[in-house]
Amino acid sequence: PAGTAYQAEDATVGQGTIATNHLNYTGTGFVDYTNIAGSYVEFTVSAATAGSASVALRYANGTAVDRPMDVTVNGTVVAPGVSFPATADWDTWATKTLGATLVAGTNTIRATATTAGGGPNLDKLTVGTAADTQAPTR
Ligand code: GCU
Repeated sequence: PAGTAYQAEDATVGQGTIATNHLNYTGTGFVDYTNIAGSYVEFTVSAATAGSASVALRYANGTAVDRPMDVTVNGTVVAPGVSFPATADWDTWATKTLGATLVAGTNTIRATATTAGGGPNLDKLTVGTAADTQAPTR
């Protein structure tokens, strides 16, 4: 299943900016975390039923250095220090897919940079079924 996509540029952004200065993003832009630890993007996600879901983050990292982030669901860290390794350049996007447990109704999913480099550039989050978690992540 394709899942439901949520654009980063439409989410709540903390200490980041919305940018369009690289190619191949979806929607109207992407979020640049601006090289600050603690910068974040928080998505408000609707789930029809409670239970396991996949959470796929589409990102670009044109540096040679990892840009790890903590991923929280409804305020609880469910995946600390998730690796967002280098992509070929800032125009090249990869997808990191995690598993998460959602409640029925409204959920908040936040990805927070944990190092001084900030997060990667973030294009979108896609929520799918638990089975999608098994899909290739790169
Ligand atoms: C460059 C790039 C930005 C990116 C930034 C970074 O400035 O153009 O899109 O966000 O590096 O280091 O995160």
